[in-house]
Amino acid sequence: MPYAAQVPVVRTLHVFGAIFLLGGVSAHALLRPMAARAAGAAQQALYQFAWRVELAMVYTGSALVLITGVLLWIGHFKPFTGWLLLGFLLYAAAAGLDGAFLAPNLRRARTVAGEGSQPVAAAAMTIQLVAWLLLVVVVFLMVAQPF
Ligand code: HEM
Repeated sequence: MPYAAQVPVVRTLHVFGAIFLLGGVSAHALLRPMAARAAGAAQQALYQFAWRVELAMVYTGSALVLITGVLLWIGHFKPFTGWLLLGFLLYAAAAGLDGAFLAPNLRRARTVAGEGSQPVAAAAMTIQLVAWLLLVVVVFLMVAQPF
């Protein structure tokens, strides 16, 4: 199959990845305030669900978007394309926040009783919203391709 014929498939997978990634991060933004207010078994269950969303949606979507994004970039756009460079940078920033803080925070909260201190939960909510916003900007950059 010639490469040009594969592009719609790769692009569809890329958008699927974006749906999973942003869907998962949006779910986390909704779950965290609920989980922080809940107590006992309910809290445990909510954090367990959040961790499942991390594995099934955030990690899967993130890997898919990265692999297909690079495939779409190579050979179709110049290496120094503004929206692609900025989009990649913001994606890397969101992935960094997730890997360094958000995901370990969920992993701990799911096993140990509760999330830990209230300030940590509050920080996690703020950082979660920042990560969500970064990805929303990436979607705008990818769709509008403004510069
Ligand atoms: C990891 C780095 C990424 C790279 C290298 C990348 C690369 C690309 C490229 C080259 C296109 C243009 C495809 C075309 O017009 O033929 C594209 C489109 C798109 N990207 Fe990304 N992308 C990345 C991450 C993301 C992320 C994190 C999201 C959203 C969460 C995203 C969402 C989209 C969407 C929705 C489109 C479709 C735009 C359209 O066809 O109108 N991408 N991406």
